[in-house]
Parts: sequence; C-alpha cells; structure tokens
Amino acid sequence: MMMSVRLCVALAVLAVANGVPPKASDVGWVVLNSGVNLPVVGLGTWQVTDDRELEQALDAALEAGYRHIDTATIYRNEHLIGKVLKRWLSEGKVKREELFITTKLPVYGMRPADVPYFLNESLTKLQLDYVDMYLIHMPFAVKREAYNNGRIDANGTDLTTDHLAIWKAMVAEKEAGRAKALGVSNFNETQIERIIKNSPVPPANLQVELHLYHQQKPLIRFCRKNNIAVTAYSPIGSPGSKWLTLLSGKELPDLLNQPDVKAIAQKHNKTPAQVLLRHTVQWGVAVIPKSSNPKRIRENIDIFDFSLDGKDVATLDALDKGLDGQLFDMKHIGGSESHPEYPWTALLDKPVA
Ligand SMILES: NC(=O)c1ccc[n+]([C@@H]2O[C@H](COP(=O)([O-])OP(=O)(O)OC[C@H]3O[C@@H](n4cnc5c(N)ncnc54)[C@H](OP(=O)(O)O)[C@@H]3O)[C@@H](O)[C@H]2O)c1
Ligand SMILES: *[C@@H]1O[C@H](CO)[C@@H](O)[C@H](O)[C@H]1NC(C)=O
Ligand SMILES: *[C@@H]1O[C@H](CO)[C@@H](O)[C@H](O)[C@H]1NC(C)=O
Ligand SMILES: *[C@@H]1O[C@H](CO)[C@@H](O)[C@H](O)[C@H]1NC(C)=O
Repeated sequence: MMMSVRLCVALAVLAVANGVPPKASDVGWVVLNSGVNLPVVGLGTWQVTDDRELEQALDAALEAGYRHIDTATIYRNEHLIGKVLKRWLSEGKVKREELFITTKLPVYGMRPADVPYFLNESLTKLQLDYVDMYLIHMPFAVKREAYNNGRIDANGTDLTTDHLAIWKAMVAEKEAGRAKALGVSNFNETQIERIIKNSPVPPANLQVELHLYHQQKPLIRFCRKNNIAVTAYSPIGSPGSKWLTLLSGKELPDLLNQPDVKAIAQKHNKTPAQVLLRHTVQWGVAVIPKSSNPKRIRENIDIFDFSLDGKDVATLDALDKGLDGQLFDMKHIGGSESHPEYPWTALLDKPVA
C-alpha cells in the first residue's frame, strides 16, 4: 500500500520534471498513506454561510463531478453542507463511499478531550457517521472561552498546547472509524516531523496556503519525502478576501490578471484560473478552490483535458515570491504570534507588513 501511495503523485511529478505532461488519470486523485484516495480537486467553502448560496454551489459542484468538499468547524456551514449531502445520498445520486469530506478541529478546541467533542459535533451537523479527513486546523491555540459567535478574543491565547497529546486523540478517532484519514493544516516541517517521530500513525495530509506567489516547493519536497499528500488552500490567491488588506495592509495579488498566466491561458485556450489550478495539480498537489458561481465551479474542475508544458511550468515556477507571497499569516487570530507553536517563525523577525 505504501508503495502505491507515492506512485500516483510521483508519476505526475516525474513526468513534469522530464517535460512530459501527465495524463489526466495520473492526477485525478492522490493516494494517501492511509490507502484512501483524495480527489485532486475539491470545493472550498470558507466564507460561505448563506444557505441558498451554499446549496446552489454544492449542487453545481456535485453535478460537475466534484466529490471532495472542504469545510471546518470554524466555517460555520457544516449543517448546510450536511443538508445537501443528505439529499444527494438519500436520492441515491451519490454513494457515501464516493464522497471525500474534510473538516477541521478548531483553533479553540486544541485539547485532547476536545477532539471527540468537536468531531462529534461536526459529524452531527454533516449528518455523517465518519469524515474522510480530519485535520488539526492550526498548530497554535486559543482558549475555548476566547471564541464567541465567530469572533476570537485578542487575549485568548492558550499556551498549553500539546501536539502529541492532541494527535493521540486524533488517532483514537481514526481507530474508532469516525475519521478515515488524519492530517494537519498550517503546520511547519518541525511540527510535522515531531508527530511522525512520536506516533505510529503519521499525518496523511498537510493543507497549507499554496498558489503562484507562494508555491511552497521546500514543503512539498519535505511532504513527498515523508509520504504526506499536500492540499493547496487559496489556490487562486483568495481574490474574495478583500478584508485582508484592511486587516494586515497586505495587497491582495491579482493572479488571474498576471500577464504570464494570461498568456499561457490563451495559448491553451483555457482560463487563467484553470492555468493556476493546473500548475499546482501538476506538482502532485490537490487544490480546493472556493466558488459560489456555478460556471466558475465547473471551470475549476475542467483542468484534465490539457497539460502545461515544461516551458509553461518553468515560467510559472519562476513567479514564486516565497514567504513574501504569503497572504495568511494568521496574526489576526487571538495572539497567535506569541504562541509557542506559531509556525512561521521567520515572520516574527520581520516588522508587521
Ligand atoms: N486550512 C486553512 O487554514 C484554510 C485557509 C484558507 C482557505 N482554506 C480552504 O481553501 C479554500 C479555498 O481558499 P480561498 O477560499 O481562500 O480562496 P481561493 O479558492 O483561492 O479563491 C476563491 C475566490 O476566487 C473566486 N473564484 C473562484 N473560481 C474562480 C474562477 N474560475 N475565476 C475567477 N474567480 C474565481 C471566488 O469567487 P466566486 O465565489 O464569486 O466565484 C472567490 O472569491 C477555502 O474555501 C477553504 O475551504 C483553508
Ligand atoms: C455527540 O453529539 C450528540 C448530539 O449533539 C450527543 O447526543 C452525543 O452524546 C455526543 N456524543 C459524544 C461521544 O460526545
Ligand atoms: C479577554 O479580555 C476580555 C476583556 O477584558 C474578557 O472579557 C475576556 O474574558 C478575556 N478572554 C479570555 C479568554 O481571557
Ligand atoms: C516551526 O514552528 C516552531 C514553533 O514556533 C518553531 O520552533 C520551528 O523552528 C518552526 N520550524 C520551521 C521549519 O520553521
């Protein structure tokens, strides 16, 4: 099983490295180290809490062939997703085993006893017996009482976070069948390595910010070496998160109008979004673009009928801005930067943008 895991990703990646584009079948899914298939394109659902908007998006996505849906306790939309899934399942339009549902342990639930509590809450809302992937959302933590109706107190930091104890509680959920696979999000290499060294169950997945300007190549290599699949969040640069500029002073990048991206899109008769997603997928990385627009939802999964050639890939690879391209430093989450598990220590030596 462990062998076949890497194979699917490795094939795609090797093919690209040699300038030979992979076939769609090579990148339709990534096999996790737990033996489960992760569909390579999923629907992101962050910042969608309107009932009708989300229902329309999910219907469009499921009709377009999406089977992978990404949510989290903190997105406050699991109950809406559950309602739509229930309808699709009870009408027999999709089978449970075809779906891949990911949700996440909230930053205010970072104690071992919180793991069964919040997973149970998620399962109840999703109307499911198990999730396909349960992720620890953030490596740092805030106190339970710091969270109130979607808001987190600036003074809420919980300094007692014990990753190994939390991971042990995660493993118990996998053993009980309530989560088919386990992973982490926003963790750095050191934090992941510590879990690998101290637990019989390694993370199957790392979900991190990853897009044209923040390509995360070293982290991808680290994960490949350790048999961990990578999922890219904000794969088209989160153009809807306009509030970020107000919050951090950071300019939102306009990846969809980047001239090289536009030229490559024109060359392949595809859209800029499709080029951005395809670029990431050709690295063997899964993508979870969010859209509430049925046309764009269809567009975002229609990336398996073309391939970027070696020259396209080299052009796009060269646009990486490394840490300067990062959008979400999570400093807005209750004192995260003063937490001992804040993952981006390199940012702490820099003045706040
Ligand atoms: N683990 C974490 O900490 C974390 C953090 C951030 C995000 N995530 C996950 O990753 C998902 C995606 O990230 P994201 O929502 O930040 O950003 P994203 O997927 O990069 O961008 C979403 C934005 O792009 C627009 N868009 C989507 N497809 C488009 C297309 N084909 N052409 C033009 N515009 C398009 C959407 O608008 P319309 O809706 O109008 O199409 C929306 O405003 C989230 O929804 C969430 O599930 C996880
Ligand atoms: C799970 O949640 C349900 C409904 O909220 C509750 O009745 C049940 O006792 C919970 N189980 C656990 C193990 O927490
Ligand atoms: C943060 O400070 C506010 C105002 O002083 C207080 O009401 C709240 O309980 C504090 N939160 C935590 C988690 O200590
Ligand atoms: C990851 O974060 C921890 C906690 O802040 C820090 O000690 C470690 O140096 C970081 N590792 C990397 C590779 O950035």
